[in-house]
Amino acid sequence: MKIALTGVKPTGILHIGNYFGAIKPAIELTKDYDTRYFIADYHALNIMKDPQALRESIREIAAGWLAAGLDPEKVIFYRQSSVPETFELTTILMAFTPKGLMNRAHAYKAALDKNIEKNEDADAGINMGLFTYPVLMAADILLFDADVVPVGRDQTQHVEMAADIAGAINYTYKKELLKIPQASVQDSVAVVPGLDGRKMSKSYGNTIPLFSSEKDLRKLIMRIVTNSQGVEEPKDPDSSQIFMIYKLFATAEEQSALRARYRGGMGWGEAKEELFRVVNRELTPLRNRFNEFVADPKKLDDILSGGAQKARAIASKTVMRLRAACGIQL
Ligand code: ADP
Ligand code: TRP
Repeated sequence: MKIALTGVKPTGILHIGNYFGAIKPAIELTKDYDTRYFIADYHALNIMKDPQALRESIREIAAGWLAAGLDPEKVIFYRQSSVPETFELTTILMAFTPKGLMNRAHAYKAALDKNIEKNEDADAGINMGLFTYPVLMAADILLFDADVVPVGRDQTQHVEMAADIAGAINYTYKKELLKIPQASVQDSVAVVPGLDGRKMSKSYGNTIPLFSSEKDLRKLIMRIVTNSQGVEEPKDPDSSQIFMIYKLFATAEEQSALRARYRGGMGWGEAKEELFRVVNRELTPLRNRFNEFVADPKKLDDILSGGAQKARAIASKTVMRLRAACGIQL
């Protein structure tokens, strides 16, 4: 079986865009791939300096993925920080990473451009963690012999960099020491719209959190922006974000029934009630499981530690192989 690996940065809380765009497809992939998924906690440290917030975020992301159906018996599921080999491999990779390659990385360039635009010192607020981010990410990937790396489009450049760095090492030592990974972007995955119609994203503050209480969920759904069409007017389902979100949660029959009601004229309030019904139906069991995990950090920790053990058994082999090839061993 081919190996698929991906990392999730524990920043912020999960929303239904993450669920349909990342979590569900990743869980689907466990059927056909040997999968390794991890919480990229040291990546988050670059931007999160509040320990309490980081700790909570790590817990909630781990609990969220498990609540959404990730099976830790099937997937090696671990925290990046529990695999210290990652950081040793990072040091090795650094020696093969041209600085110019890092200068071209999108995340770093975006921060740089923002500073220049604001007429600030070009390096303001940019730490070395952000600058060398792609090397740490390459270590995450190369440590585990990943064939494919499912990511959002914004991350493909980083995976290409991992492939470049691996290629440089294999070339130097004339040996297939590291597997060359490939990014996989699922274009078929729906872009979930947010409350205001733009792409749902934590940076726009327009999200429906995956685990909000029933009360908050209803409130948020009632806040979805609609046009000023009157109750009786026929409405177009395909240009309505209520309907777009509905499609993700409803059965085919429910979708055609709501379509017909839209065309016949129905108030937005009523459409939102129907949306709330199906969203709440799907999310209630997830929310319950999530709350159980959050209330039992020991259980969460046991699962992640079990994953880390399996992960380290693989990672240590990769590092030993490289140490031997580089001459770092007597
Ligand atoms: P955000 O935009 O909220 O910061 P992230 O960048 O942390 O989200 O995204 C994590 C994962 O969730 C990525 O794989 C991304 O493609 C996916 N994702 C985020 N928002 C959406 C959305 N609105 N629709 C589909 N997928 C999404
Ligand atoms: N950089 C990724 C993101 O921001 C998270 C990540 C860290 C990752 N290491 C990885 C993704 C390795 C895939 C493989 O979303």
